[in-house]
Amino acid sequence: MRSHYCGDLHAGLIDETVRLAGWVHRRRDHGGVIFVDLRDRSGLVQVVFDPDRPEIFALAEQIRSEYVLAVQGRVRRRPAGTENPNMATGEVEVLAQSLEVLNRAETPPFQLEDYHSDTSEEVRLRYRYIDLRRPEMQARLRVRSHITATLRAFLDAEGFLDIETPILTKSTPEGARDYLVPSRVHPGEFYALPQSPQLFKQLLMMSGFDRYYQIARCFRDEDLRADRQPEFTQLDIETSFLDEAALTGLMERMIRHLFRTVLDVDLPDPFPRMTYAEAMRRYGSDRPDLRVPLELVDVADLMDDVEFKVFAGPAADPEGRVVALRLPGGAELTRKEIDEYTKFVGIYGAKGLAYIKVNDWTGQGRDGLQSPILKFLPDGAVSGIMARTGAENGDLVFFGADKTEVVNESIGALRVKLGHDRGLAADAWRPLWVVDFPMFERDAHTGRWVALHHPFTAPKDDQLERLERDPGNVESRAYDLVLNGTEVGGGSIRIHREDVQRRIFRLLKIADEDADARFGFLLKALKYGCPPHGGIAFGLDRLVMLMTASTSIRDVMAFPKTQTAACMLTDAPSAVDEAQLHELALRIRLRA
Ligand code: AMO
Ligand code: AMP
Repeated sequence: MRSHYCGDLHAGLIDETVRLAGWVHRRRDHGGVIFVDLRDRSGLVQVVFDPDRPEIFALAEQIRSEYVLAVQGRVRRRPAGTENPNMATGEVEVLAQSLEVLNRAETPPFQLEDYHSDTSEEVRLRYRYIDLRRPEMQARLRVRSHITATLRAFLDAEGFLDIETPILTKSTPEGARDYLVPSRVHPGEFYALPQSPQLFKQLLMMSGFDRYYQIARCFRDEDLRADRQPEFTQLDIETSFLDEAALTGLMERMIRHLFRTVLDVDLPDPFPRMTYAEAMRRYGSDRPDLRVPLELVDVADLMDDVEFKVFAGPAADPEGRVVALRLPGGAELTRKEIDEYTKFVGIYGAKGLAYIKVNDWTGQGRDGLQSPILKFLPDGAVSGIMARTGAENGDLVFFGADKTEVVNESIGALRVKLGHDRGLAADAWRPLWVVDFPMFERDAHTGRWVALHHPFTAPKDDQLERLERDPGNVESRAYDLVLNGTEVGGGSIRIHREDVQRRIFRLLKIADEDADARFGFLLKALKYGCPPHGGIAFGLDRLVMLMTASTSIRDVMAFPKTQTAACMLTDAPSAVDEAQLHELALRIRLRA
């Protein structure tokens, strides 16, 4: 049917006859001549229908946007002055000699060209097959395919085996709710869809495969965001007999190779590393965006003589934190802008956003400062703040004072927002390994210890003895890879001893019987010759999102779900009929 892709035509083909097949991107009537931009996955080319050929001209008059055509014609140079430099094929056009309408199309629900203006994402997702025709979407999925092909080739060359693991399985705790699938054969029993292949990949190490990878679908019933989908894809990896340095080194090499191959970008070698504690202290986040040069500065110790409760309270609270954030050039912020930032930190639970404008500190000292809280701060506190933040004339210093978690989240987010709003973020790729995570954190509601990663993550060997005595101060052998403020991967060296794994379950208040019921197969396997092992999983969607400069992972998935985990295209999830429920021994009871 076709001799060339539309986007591949060029001046070297002038005078050749070509056969094209594709969609009508745009049709224009120009005083007796009809121009059609014909589109296929490679791009566009202009096809010209001349009234000299009345039969096909009459047919061409009927065609509309998104009709599917087969066209035969001769490539010719566009007349001088009509070349289109914005089009890859803009030097040439095809003079049609024959036209076949392969299929007609109803008027599409949105124009493929200017959908930006007012097409809601809901409509785009409902008509995803049309949305995906847009060159931007085609380009994104093409990059995605290039990325997976590159990763597969790299891992294959490094001796990794691609092994599939079950989708109908038992719960794998990664911190989210499970998606459950009822069993017909075992009434009243359920499979869980995997939150990750975690336990299976560990079992594969126990089976001696040594190096495993899989491009694996994972399912998590959790609150969705721009970078979170209920169903997403991991590049999942596990290895035996490698320590953290060897494994992260190998993964770094893979990511550098990926960026060089797909984007022609050289990432730093090696990637920098930072401890969790340092990341929280300087950036209020365990996934700091290092493109933004702003940092949180602790000032609680300067508040000894301060009576201002907003600051003095958290300063005296062992679970509190008081920080300053210097914004260079920030003195020019308007009242309105500051109010908007105050609202922004409110989303993260901050009760306010104190600030000091530094108009002229060097010349006028205190009198050169402007702030609603200045009256509460004695000279010592003010000069301490100025010295520690390094604030200069023309700057603004923001403050966060609250429970540590609230300060970290709110001022950490403010830091990133200010960096981008104010054009301070470097236009660069800034990867970072975050290491030395705590093993556990306290659940705010229940007060129980929960695993910061998953419960199969190994504690540092030399801290094993204080596991029960001081769990809050035990570090794990986990590592996260952060890229420009997004957590793109996370993994760890695993527990490979049954006794240690049981101790962790006990600490997490999983009773022995529960542990046996939920993870008995793993505990048993650990007793039959388990090698030291560890691995990592990359969020493939997030990686593709970053590498295609997209703002949401929905834009790099062919058929994503909405914020409410619905598929607009198929209307899933949907009700099922009585007979199906009956067969599954289920009855629906709607909550009042
Ligand atoms: P983790 O839970 O950190 O680790 O997941 C690994 C990576 O997967 C991505 N990710 C997501 N992407 C899109 N939507 C989601 N809902 C979502 N949740 C996670 C993130 C994250 O870094 N089994 C362990 C890995 C291991 O220990 O080897 C795991 O799943 O980019
Ligand atoms: P108030 O005493 O509530 O009027 O607050 C005085 C100033 O402190 C205002 O600029 C508030 O925005 C700010 N503020 C209040 N609570 C906090 C907080 N927890 N952290 C930082 N600033 C705050």
